[in-house]
Amino acid sequence: MIELENLVSLKNLSKVEINQILYLAEGLEDVAKGHESLDILKNKVLATFFYEPSTRTRLSFETAMLRLGGWVVSMADAKSMSSVWKGETLGDTIRTIDNYANVIALRHPEAGAAEEAVSYSKVPILNAGDGTNEHPTQALLDLLTIKKQRNGIDGLKIGIAGDLKHTRSTNSLTIGLSNYDVELFLSSPEGFETSDWILDILNNKGVKYHQNHSVKEMVDKIDVLYVCRIQKERLENKSEYENIKGKYFIDKALLEEASQVITILHHLPRIGELAEDVDEYAGAAYFPQTFNGVLIRGALLAIVLGKTRELENYVKNR
Ligand code: NCD
Repeated sequence: MIELENLVSLKNLSKVEINQILYLAEGLEDVAKGHESLDILKNKVLATFFYEPSTRTRLSFETAMLRLGGWVVSMADAKSMSSVWKGETLGDTIRTIDNYANVIALRHPEAGAAEEAVSYSKVPILNAGDGTNEHPTQALLDLLTIKKQRNGIDGLKIGIAGDLKHTRSTNSLTIGLSNYDVELFLSSPEGFETSDWILDILNNKGVKYHQNHSVKEMVDKIDVLYVCRIQKERLENKSEYENIKGKYFIDKALLEEASQVITILHHLPRIGELAEDVDEYAGAAYFPQTFNGVLIRGALLAIVLGKTRELENYVKNR
């Protein structure tokens, strides 16, 4: 049975553990839709404490907690609305919130912040994105989406396209995928390539991967395409964005050049790199992907709150 105290990174999760999380998450479908009641997290409080903007991550965490019978306290804009504005440190903030909540979902602009929070916290920390480092709950919901859309992950050829240098969700996704028998096609504009520490993980695990600068040249080779935006707010020089914007763009016409239907994922928000006409494309899966966030975050909340057995029993007896 899977045991997790915190979730900071996907680096330390095995394939078996990831598959267990995906299995438990998939079993929450009816609960997440409100068709069935499950109150295994009754009397537990989740604090979502976000120093950066969010739509999907925060709301799906909170939805999952409420669907499982728990309560939520929320700080959506910690930089301006909490004592962070007055200069409070992360350590003091965490040592306060852990008196109010049984688990904390933390989003922070600095790489390493989630790990630092763990060192202060007496309750579990779930990393909801730390700077350009990792976004492990997003990657798990991406893996679940791939599994559901393609009936499994092993054997797939997966393209990941966009700002691979600054995107934390694709870092975690690439680490997660490195546990499976997949072939990766990493596509980015020049200067926005996948970081070396991620490539080191792929090399160490012997994952076959290719790097390119054009989605066009890989569309005929892949089963799944994960698109991400340019992380404008993380660029030191704003003119970099002006130079790059519009240079990579995926629309329905491009996807229809491929001989097979490609499953299209995006962490969202999209800001011009994925055309709205792709919504009509048979492989578009980015809105179902957002629903899977509730499933994954519900399973993770149950696991770190010591309710894995209860969740397992529910899933088994469904
Ligand atoms: C991502 C994030 O915040 O890392 N969004 C998300 O969580 N779905 C990606 C982004 O900001 O573009």
